Formats: sequence, structure tokens, C-alpha cells
Amino acid sequence: MALPLFLPCAAGVEALLAEEVRALLPQAPVSETRGGVALPGDPFEAMTLNLESRLAQRVLVEVGTADYRSEDDIYALGHAVRWSDWVTPRHTLRVDVTTQRSPLRSPNFAGLRIKDAICDVLRDATGQRPSVDTRHPDLPVVLHLGESQAVLYVDTSGEALFKRGWRVDKGDAPLKETLAAAILAAAGWRGTPERGGALHDPCCGSGTIPIEAAQIACGIAPGLKRRFAFEGLLPFADAALRSQWRRLKADAQARIHPARVPVSGADVSFRMVDFARRNAERAGVAHVVTFNGGDALERPAPTIAADLHGTLVVNPPYGERIDPKGARGPAAAVPDEIGREAPRRVRARRAADADAAENRALPSDFYARLAAHWKRAYAPHPAGWTAWVLSPDMKLPSAMRLNEARRMPMWNGPLECRLFRFDLISGSARAPRDDAAA
Ligand SMILES: C[S@@+](CC[C@H](N)C(=O)[O-])C[C@H]1O[C@@H](n2cnc3c(N)ncnc32)[C@H](O)[C@@H]1O
Repeated sequence: MALPLFLPCAAGVEALLAEEVRALLPQAPVSETRGGVALPGDPFEAMTLNLESRLAQRVLVEVGTADYRSEDDIYALGHAVRWSDWVTPRHTLRVDVTTQRSPLRSPNFAGLRIKDAICDVLRDATGQRPSVDTRHPDLPVVLHLGESQAVLYVDTSGEALFKRGWRVDKGDAPLKETLAAAILAAAGWRGTPERGGALHDPCCGSGTIPIEAAQIACGIAPGLKRRFAFEGLLPFADAALRSQWRRLKADAQARIHPARVPVSGADVSFRMVDFARRNAERAGVAHVVTFNGGDALERPAPTIAADLHGTLVVNPPYGERIDPKGARGPAAAVPDEIGREAPRRVRARRAADADAAENRALPSDFYARLAAHWKRAYAPHPAGWTAWVLSPDMKLPSAMRLNEARRMPMWNGPLECRLFRFDLISGSARAPRDDAAA
């Protein structure tokens, strides 16, 4: 069965995701689009991507697309799909709607029209209608309304893929696991001595970055601990596919190996350290990753072999003085999961305000002191350390008085950020200057 697949991802991550999908499915013709990647796939490839992709937010199957002007066109789009190929009336369903410059007044009503169409198709085919379950649907459907075109997807993932199935404790501002993976991929950190070396996050919160890193270092597939919507859908139900799915998981299990590099995290809050340790246990990496309490401005660098390179990866606390470009700038159409445009400015402001409130006690010279500490504690290491910092502060290099070697756009939910790279070697300091927001 041919399944046109679309994998949405965070804005700025498309190229990394395309690279990941090419590595997982070398034969697949992968195309990169705004907000995700597309490929002509099949059930086996959909299962593989759900299990193995660290960067995709979901694995969607496109089941219909049409130009539209009214809700009747949307109903027709839903009615053209052979839903009896996907589910029986005993299955439950939910329709989510995302929009990008849609002319329709009520996206929710458009979603209801899709629900009606699915129920009508199944009633005509079987004499019975399925019911809706907004919490745990068997058939999650996504309707994307563009300016003039609507696309209908079946979501084979169910819960978004950043939910790896290990998080019990969140902390206040956790990164999504998919974004932590994207930062590591952008940093070229592959969990080996040759590619990335040791990993440390000095402000690790609930441990997302070190836990994701530890799983990479051990070859643990991100989806091994969870279930997926496709497991209950008819195109995946035949015996051969079920046995392929069991084999995919068994192969992934067999690939797990001891880590070859040390991975660690620290946080000034002991509550966070406790969360991180419990999360690491559930993620199966408690034996690989070390979490300690401590102030990032004072804690010595982790002790590592002299010939091993070190990588610092951190999304530090944001202080009140920061005025994130995405939060206070002009309202912009910001793509997320499947290119949806939401009331971004409001959400971005709320997210920034929450971060600011959480970190009110942050000293105003926190970043300058952090960089000074890095120069003292990390730069002398013979094999060097590289720091990757995700921040919405476009002037971070000035605040840190460090020259950035790279800056890459990345979105942390609604917050426009940059991922900065700093090479911690002697001479990386510089006099402060005004960075143009880029
Ligand atoms: C934005 S959160 C990091 C979230 C984390 N990446 C996660 O996924 O849970 C920033 C963290 O920095 C910690 N923090 C604040 N000041 C610190 C300091 N001086 N030293 C170490 N950690 C600090 C906070 O406790 C908070 O957990």
C-alpha cells in the first residue's frame, strides 16, 4: 500500500530531518518542504520512522488534498477518502485542525465537517457510525487549511513523537525531546569520541538534553518505550506487517550498546536534579548519565580524558532583561507542526513571560560570568570544548563577550531562538560590541 508521508518538524530543523530520514531510509526520495519533509512511503517506512526518528514531530499520511472555498468543499474532501480501509465503526476518531491564512471563519466547524464525512462514509459502507474520543482516539486525523488548499492526513503517531514515553517529571520549562535532538544533530554530536566527545549540560533542568544524548550514545531508538496510533489501524493490521513491526523493535533492542563517551548534567535546583535522575531511570540511561547539583557559574568542568573533546549543550535560563525578538516583535506567521499559523504573538509573549518570571532572580551579569567561568574552567582542556547555546537573545555573544563561530535559527515552540556555537579556546574572548539581530 502506497502511503504519501509527511513528517512535520520545528521550523529551522527541516534540513536536519531530511538528513535523518535519508540515513534511516537510504532508498527513499525525500523532499524538504517548509515545516517538514515529504516522501512517498509505505507502512513499513511509516513504522520505521515512528520508531527511529528523533527529529520528526509526527508521521502523517496524506489521504486527500483539494482546493477549497467553503465548508462544503471540506466535507467533500473528507467524503472522498475510503475510511473503511483505515478503521471499522468500532474505532474512535478525533479531528485536529491547523490553519495558515485560511479564509474560513471557523476552523472548528471545518473539523466537524470532516468528522461528519468520516462517519457518513463508514455508515454507508458498514451501516454503523464510529464515535469521537478526544483523548485517546484510534484514528487521529489532521486537517490542514492553507490559503486555498486543504490537506487531510491520518496521524500514524498518535501522541506527538517528542513524547518518548519516559518523562514523568517536567520541571518548569522543559525542552521538547525533538528539539533537544535537533540541537544535538545541529551540533554534529553523534555520541562517539570522534563526533562530539563528552557531553555536559550545566543548566540541565529535567535532563532533556543529557537524556536524549545518552540514548543516542547507547543507540536507543527514541520510540522503543511507547505505542503508536498505527498499531490499531487497518493498513498495519495484517500478519506480515505485525511481524515486521515486532522485528523492527527487536532489531532496535539488539542494537543497544554501551556508551563510549561520558554524558552529564547539572542544575542549581536540587528539585530539577531529582527530576532528571528519575527521568533518566525511565529512559533506560541512568547508568550512562550523571546528574549533579551545582551552580553553573562555579562548578568545575567534568573531568574527561585529555584527548577527548567536550561538548557543552545548554538552553540557559532567560532573564527579564531579554526581549526575545519573536515575543515582542511584529506578529509573524510562524510555521510549526504542519505549517500552522496560530495566535503566535500571544503565545510567544506568554512563554517568554513565564520564563522571565521563573528566572527573576537571575543576576544581570549571568551570561558574562558564565562565559568567564567557561574560559577559566573549560578552555584549558587540551582537546578543547565547544559550547552550543540555545537562546532567544540575539545579543547573547555580546552579553557573553565571546565570539560566536556560528548562529543558526531555531524555534523553541513559539519563541524564535538562535543556536550559538562558541569554541572555548584561549583567545575566544573579545571586547563587547552590539550584535545586529540576525
Ligand atoms: C530553561 S531551563 C532548562 C530546561 C531543560 N533544558 C529541560 O529540558 O528541562 C534553565 C534551567 O537552568 C537552571 N539554572 C538557573 N540558574 C542556574 C545556575 N546558576 N546554575 C545552574 N543551573 C541554573 C534552572 O534551575 C533551570 O532548570
